[in-house]
Amino acid sequence: MKLTAQIVVAFFATFQIAFADHELIGRDIPMGKDLYQAHCANCHGTNLEGQPNWRSPDEDGVLPAPPHDRTGHTWHHDNVLLFEYTKFGGKKALELRGYPNFISGMQGFADTLSDVQIWSVLAFIQSTWPEKEQTIQSAKNPVH
Ligand code: HEC
Repeated sequence: MKLTAQIVVAFFATFQIAFADHELIGRDIPMGKDLYQAHCANCHGTNLEGQPNWRSPDEDGVLPAPPHDRTGHTWHHDNVLLFEYTKFGGKKALELRGYPNFISGMQGFADTLSDVQIWSVLAFIQSTWPEKEQTIQSAKNPVH
C-alpha cells in the first residue's frame, strides 16, 4: 500500500516536470535553425554569440543584442517570456511584465513568424545549451 502511494507521487512529480516545459517539446528544430539564421542571426550572431559589449547600452540607452548561447541570459528566462519577447518585441514584452518605458533594440516578429515558427526557433536555441542550462531553464516554467 505504502509502496503504491510512493509510485503515484513519483509519477505525478515526473509528469509535472515534463508538462511544465511542454511548449518546447516536439518542435521542428531544423526548421527553427533555418528561421534563426534568416531572422535572428544578423543581430544575435550566426553562432548565437551576440554582439560585442552586449551589456553596455549605447548613447540612446539601447542595448546590443545579447548572445543566445550559454554565455548570455536567454536560459535565465521562462518559455512564455522568450515567446512574448520574440512575438511582440522587447518593449511590449517588458510592459506585459510591469516594466513600461523600456527602450528596446528588438522589434516583434508577430507579422513575420507564426506562433509555431517562433516556438521552433526557441526550441532550436534551447537545443544548443548544455544539459545544466537546459535543466535550470526548464525549472523556471510554472506548471500549467
Ligand atoms: C535588430 C536586431 C535584432 C533581431 C533581428 C533580433 N533580436 Fe532579439 N534582441 C535584440 C536586442 C538588442 C535585445 C536586447 C534587449 C532589448 O533591447 O530588447 C534582444 C533580446 C532578445 C531576447 C530577450 C533576452 C534574452 O537574452 O533572451 C530574446 C528571447 C530574443 N531577443 C530573441 C530573438 C529571436 C528569437 C530573434 C529572431 C526571430 C531575434 N531575437 C531577432 C535584437 C534583435
